[in-house]
Amino acid sequence: MGASIIAMFFFTVVVVVHVYASERPDDMYRESLHRDSHLHRMYGIRNAFPKRDSSSVEMRSVQEAGPLPPSGAIVYHVTSYGADPTGQNDSTDAVLKAITDALNGPAKGALFEGIANLGGARVNLDGGNYLISRPLLFPVSGRGNLAIHGGSLTASNDFPADGFLIDLSSSSNSAYNYEFTTLRDLYLDSNYRGGGIRVKNSLRTTIDNCYITHFATTGILAEGGHETVIRGSYLGQRITAGGDPGERSFSGTAIALAGNDNVVSDVVIFSAQTGILISGQANLISGVHCYNKATGFGGVGIYVRLPGLAQTRIVDSYLDYTGIVAEDPVQLTVANTFFLGDAFVLFKSVKGVMSGVTVVDNMFAGSGKGIEIVQMEGKFDQVDQVAIERNAVRGMAVKTTVARASVDGEGPSWTADLKAALLFPNSIKQVQYTFVTDAASYPSHFLRNVSDNKVVIQADATVKARVYITADQGGSYL
Ligand SMILES: *[C@@H]1O[C@H](CO)[C@@H](O)[C@H](O)[C@H]1NC(C)=O
Ligand SMILES: *[C@@H]1O[C@H](CO)[C@@H](O)[C@H](O)[C@H]1NC(C)=O
Repeated sequence: MGASIIAMFFFTVVVVVHVYASERPDDMYRESLHRDSHLHRMYGIRNAFPKRDSSSVEMRSVQEAGPLPPSGAIVYHVTSYGADPTGQNDSTDAVLKAITDALNGPAKGALFEGIANLGGARVNLDGGNYLISRPLLFPVSGRGNLAIHGGSLTASNDFPADGFLIDLSSSSNSAYNYEFTTLRDLYLDSNYRGGGIRVKNSLRTTIDNCYITHFATTGILAEGGHETVIRGSYLGQRITAGGDPGERSFSGTAIALAGNDNVVSDVVIFSAQTGILISGQANLISGVHCYNKATGFGGVGIYVRLPGLAQTRIVDSYLDYTGIVAEDPVQLTVANTFFLGDAFVLFKSVKGVMSGVTVVDNMFAGSGKGIEIVQMEGKFDQVDQVAIERNAVRGMAVKTTVARASVDGEGPSWTADLKAALLFPNSIKQVQYTFVTDAASYPSHFLRNVSDNKVVIQADATVKARVYITADQGGSYL
């Protein structure tokens, strides 16, 4: 599938080139010949088609303004704007100029209403590492189909403490600021000042294969808008491979999702106070490995700080000595996730609501200290559709909403005390049991009592029997 996506991408670029070449008015093209960025664009065309010998066509077109060469593919090389790829001199103005030219470059049609389509323009960081002293705040908004890729940005010692290296927060007249912006193959070093990337009120932003470090505030902040996809990336405040002596003082948040419908997939978060902070709805977290700061030091792997309808799915992830915290969860799924090192799921009560919560098919592994896999802080008194079951637990204490027991005895009553395993105190909504006996008689038996999470089965005779009991706290029954 990866190969076909790449193939489609190139196909799209070629088509766009063709369309521009055939439809762009001559005078617009000539005007562009005199613009600063012309040569970079030519260079960009060469880069885009490295195997084609197009230099003669380009030279002729520059000198004679002859037949139109393909001029739609536009690559803005920051080194051509005077950016210093060695990271010695401040490159803020040069990189911003390249971004500004890209945003003001030729557009054809629109993506979402009010978002001009830049046709796949690229700002190429040319594999350099650039010193940046002010946020690269996109100066123009209402643009889409643009990529910045291929290099490193390092914040200077006087970079603003509340800034982000790349900042897509300029507001626009459109309902959204930007659409289909791709930030790829970037190393962002915030130099313990400010954050890495801020995306505000934008649509379909891709952050792919980025390494974001030394942030003081937030590595990636997605505010408003929707469908920011953060994938295949690494975030850590300090560069460590675990067991860091300074772990206690890790601070900041690696990823903050303050909006809806975002995706974080295949991401490693190796240092931060909070790995992912979620305060919007319908976000999907998948394949994320958090070892940002251990719970024991006060860290949180994934924090769903949205009391009420969260509609959050956390799946196929790896919570490594740091856990998940959710406030008043309503529609939250945690599944197929591996919790290592006594990591657990904590539900915090705000108004005491827990509804539509599923914590199933996970693995928990701990140190044998009896840490419970699911814990509650405060009282929950509005609970329904909560399923915490089928978790594989080793070296930790099981907490579940569906407990099973078998009790042997001679009666007349058989008691299963399920207090230790059941999550909610004194709450059993349904019991099923099987009464097995070799006795020659046919004793009558019934469910006598479920008070205090103890199930009592009683018979009218004293017989040797085994009773299998399943008690469910969570379901909602018609
Ligand atoms: C850095 O700036 C100095 C002084 O302006 C200049 O001489 C030098 O060429 C610049 N270095 C690079 C790599 O741009
Ligand atoms: C059920 O058990 C509780 C204590 O465990 C007791 O207080 C209560 O009276 C019992 N109810 C019945 C119907 O036996």
